[in-house]
Amino acid sequence: MMMMMMMMMLMLVAALGGSLSVPPHEQVARMARFVVNKCEWASMATISTHDPVRGQPFSNAFSISDGPAGNGTGTPYLFLTHLEISVQDLQVNPQSSLSVSLAQTSYCKNHGFDPQSPLCAHIILSGSVVEVNGSEASVAKAALFSRHPEMIDWPTDHNWFFAKMNITQVWVLDYFGGVKTVTPEEYYRATPYRKHSGSDTL
Ligand SMILES: *[C@@H]1O[C@H](CO)[C@@H](O)[C@H](O)[C@H]1NC(C)=O
Ligand SMILES: *[C@@H]1O[C@H](CO)[C@@H](O)[C@H](O)[C@H]1NC(C)=O
Ligand SMILES: *[C@@H]1O[C@H](CO)[C@@H](O)[C@H](O)[C@H]1NC(C)=O
Repeated sequence: MMMMMMMMMLMLVAALGGSLSVPPHEQVARMARFVVNKCEWASMATISTHDPVRGQPFSNAFSISDGPAGNGTGTPYLFLTHLEISVQDLQVNPQSSLSVSLAQTSYCKNHGFDPQSPLCAHIILSGSVVEVNGSEASVAKAALFSRHPEMIDWPTDHNWFFAKMNITQVWVLDYFGGVKTVTPEEYYRATPYRKHSGSDTL
């Protein structure tokens, strides 16, 4: 009985620990890091190399991970194969844009924020997608496979490789007044999960 209660308390603590609070909207670099770490997938836009939309933007969903929930590095890693339509675009032009949104969590629905509302924070990362090798591939594998365990079973004959978004600019829509930009340096300096008071939980 006592043991049971202790277990339940531990589970409750774990659950509360998981409901991390959203940073204040004016701390845009922290907000960007927070949303990127929260989201398990992103829409990736490439410049299409496929007819009949050759040369046009092409957006597609990809699993991402920048590390464990609550302790991400900010670098979104991807697990890709050249058989994939958007990855074929990247072979011609690695420039792309990744967008993530708190609409992908329960936060916006719980607060009555429409996905297009700036109060439902959304982040766009501009840059290029580059393959990673060696020790960074091990980092990418640990980040991705911990949050997407089914990746282990993806067909080996697809020649999967690890890649990352090489971020050149971060765009943050998290409040009224238009988009705010964050440099990669500011983004990587931010500490998304530092304790702060007076804001919402997810
Ligand atoms: C967070 O990740 C870093 C490496 O990126 C690691 O050194 C640290 O121990 C981790 N912290 C927690 C609380 O897991
Ligand atoms: C990783 O390896 C691939 C294939 O061997 C190579 O094309 C690519 O340039 C390498 N990337 C880095 C960052 O070393
Ligand atoms: C990342 O992008 C910057 C700016 O375009 C470039 O100078 C750098 O070489 C890129 N890094 C990699 C690993 O591709």
